[in-house]
Amino acid sequence: MAITLKTSYFSANSPNHVEFHEQSLIELIENGQIGQIIHQSDPDYQKTLTAAQTTDQLITIAPGHYLLPGFIDLHNHAPQWPQAGIALDRPLNDWLNHYTFPLEARFADLDYATAVYRDLVHTLLTNGTTSALYFGSIHNNANLKLAEICAQLGQRAFIGTVVMDNPEQTPANYRDVNSATALSKTRTFIQAIQNQHPDQLVQPVITPRFIPSCQTETLTQLGRLAQETQLRVQTHCSQSTWEHQYVLDRFGQTDSVVLQQFGLLNQHAVLAHATQLTTADQQLIKTEQAAIAHCPLSNAYFGNGVFPTKQLLDQQLKIGLGTDIAGGYSPSLYTNLQTAVTASQMRQDGVDARLPADSRGVADSRITTEEAFYLATAGGAASLAINAGQIKLGMLADFQIVQAAPQFTTLTPADQLTHLLFNHTAQQIKAVYVNGQLVHQKEQNWYDNAQ
Ligand code: GUN
Ligand code: FE
Repeated sequence: MAITLKTSYFSANSPNHVEFHEQSLIELIENGQIGQIIHQSDPDYQKTLTAAQTTDQLITIAPGHYLLPGFIDLHNHAPQWPQAGIALDRPLNDWLNHYTFPLEARFADLDYATAVYRDLVHTLLTNGTTSALYFGSIHNNANLKLAEICAQLGQRAFIGTVVMDNPEQTPANYRDVNSATALSKTRTFIQAIQNQHPDQLVQPVITPRFIPSCQTETLTQLGRLAQETQLRVQTHCSQSTWEHQYVLDRFGQTDSVVLQQFGLLNQHAVLAHATQLTTADQQLIKTEQAAIAHCPLSNAYFGNGVFPTKQLLDQQLKIGLGTDIAGGYSPSLYTNLQTAVTASQMRQDGVDARLPADSRGVADSRITTEEAFYLATAGGAASLAINAGQIKLGMLADFQIVQAAPQFTTLTPADQLTHLLFNHTAQQIKAVYVNGQLVHQKEQNWYDNAQ
């Protein structure tokens, strides 16, 4: 039977429009969607409330708690969870070669993969992340285990088996043997996910790690596969000075142009980082309707530049937020949205106070907390083309119920949201729903009629 939540909620419809509604009635219907939203001002409010009470399907969220859309992590390397926070002072290629590739190679061991993936998916759910776009490792078995765990724990997941076969940029013990193997492995993975997850809670993603790790033939074949299947694609794009220059040296073009030429830059593509884009690249990404996963923590370590979030949001590119576990150390999109705001402020103000104030930074770069909230919710959903990320009729019921930190002053709704997003620990995320199903609850004191 349908349940009805009585709750106050925040939802971002666009980067600069966050809705707030008090004590609304939100009906979750059997197919996992929001079937009805009745606000207090609605003439049917009392009638609907009484009906929900009578059928005993009403859940009244306790005072001081708010309903938010579940967060969407648009870039996460599942096998890197064991090294969160480690060696972030190294340059990107050094970190990849000396820490990341050796760690990912261990995921040939299915027991190890199972232990890590259980902990990661559970941790993300407890942090309010209801959907994630994952890079796995190169191992189909471990990646299928990740899919199984996401389905068991109830997280919406988009998973790629990582392709990397360029002998010049990958270690002998952690690479695909050649283009043909990389292709057949990817096809097998896609089939297996589609067979094992017919409800599509978990979906496959074509995943060339990034241009440096892939041979040219492999990029060609993966591009053809993307055209043939119309599946999502994920990769890293113009991520750092070294990586951007590597692609210029090899192809004489930027990452975005090369990806587009191979058929890997389209409306199904999610490009991680993109800190080094030229103006022409930005235009190309917009024209092709590809999305960008902004990973503010990771970019601080490896990006060699601050992503122009505000400029690209204003140009209406599709952008969401990624943790980039473990180029970013935090599994929490709260931490990442806070960092997105902070980084944008630094881009605006500049970093060297010895320069004149008006030439230190880039004007109009700061994003608001509302814009960061949009990125973590509706922006991520638009990037994945999923019907989620907002609390709206017909949307998937992917939610988090969050307790506000103690308050010692009266706040406007706008300040309440900012306070909630910045004064936050996972302890305050009391309940998480995916597809209208309760997939995590902290304690049972988040609703009034708790038994
Ligand atoms: N570029 C290519 N692979 C990776 C990775 O695993 N993490 C990050 N942050 N960047 C990458
Ligand atoms: Fe990454």
